[in-house]
Amino acid sequence: RIAYLDGRYLPIEEARIPIFDRGYNLGDGIYEVTAFVGRRMVDFDAHLSRLRSSLEHINIKVDLDFADWQAIHHRLIDANTIETGTVYIQVTRGVMERDFVPTKDLSPTILGIVQPKPLDSDPRLDSGISAALVEDLRWKRRDIKSTSLLAQVLAKSRAHAVGAGEAILHEGGIVTEGGSTTVFGVDRDGVVWTHPLGPTILPGITRKRVIALAEELGLPVTEEPITVSALRQMSEVFLTGATFFVIPVVEIDTQPVADRKPGAVTLRLQKAYRDYAR
Ligand code: PDD
Repeated sequence: RIAYLDGRYLPIEEARIPIFDRGYNLGDGIYEVTAFVGRRMVDFDAHLSRLRSSLEHINIKVDLDFADWQAIHHRLIDANTIETGTVYIQVTRGVMERDFVPTKDLSPTILGIVQPKPLDSDPRLDSGISAALVEDLRWKRRDIKSTSLLAQVLAKSRAHAVGAGEAILHEGGIVTEGGSTTVFGVDRDGVVWTHPLGPTILPGITRKRVIALAEELGLPVTEEPITVSALRQMSEVFLTGATFFVIPVVEIDTQPVADRKPGAVTLRLQKAYRDYAR
């Protein structure tokens, strides 16, 4: 497999990061994950805008324009013989002796990796997954796609330990999002609910696409917070994300969602998204 590191394309075993990289020492960096299906990227422009907005938020300047970023993504996909998977891009502030306050002369470390993933052919798209409710212990700027992921590592590990495929995070009685997904619910009237944008959640690219597809299908959508008790009453629950596509949640904390079968609205949106991505 070939990685991109600071302007070079190398076998992954040869791509090395110095021990004083601020991403490694301090989690001082951001990342982006873009899916590709049959070597074609899904919503690349939107992922790139979010990457650039994450960089701006934490004041890292990268000397690459849209075409440069696009070329890196394309070359990574071309250099690896993976048909379907994700491009992972990570930008950290750079390398210096460990200190919280960065010096001004740093040049960012830019890493790109391609990972194979089942995505549109994942059998869990049909079966659905179970999810576990876990308290959201993250910081207050979740709209920045930070590489500081300790809270998600712990939340998703806890979910995994009880046999769940994803953690559904909540705080103050409100569902924020999944460990690495956006949470949607479908209520008894068929209205599709998801948390509004803002600093408490990541602005999911799949979320945005699924809302647009729902509107095209004439499904009512409301961007309002879902309480934990409302989530338990939903007729359908599903998650979206670059690595999960549109995945039904059939069980929450061992309690079935409706009749423990993927719901009709979820499956319509899943199909619409799969067709869009293919
Ligand atoms: N995660 N919420 C969080 C906290 C996420 O980390 C992600 C994505 C999403 C979904 O966003 P999108 O639809 O743009 O993929 C929501 C990536 C895939 C990851 O960390 O691997």
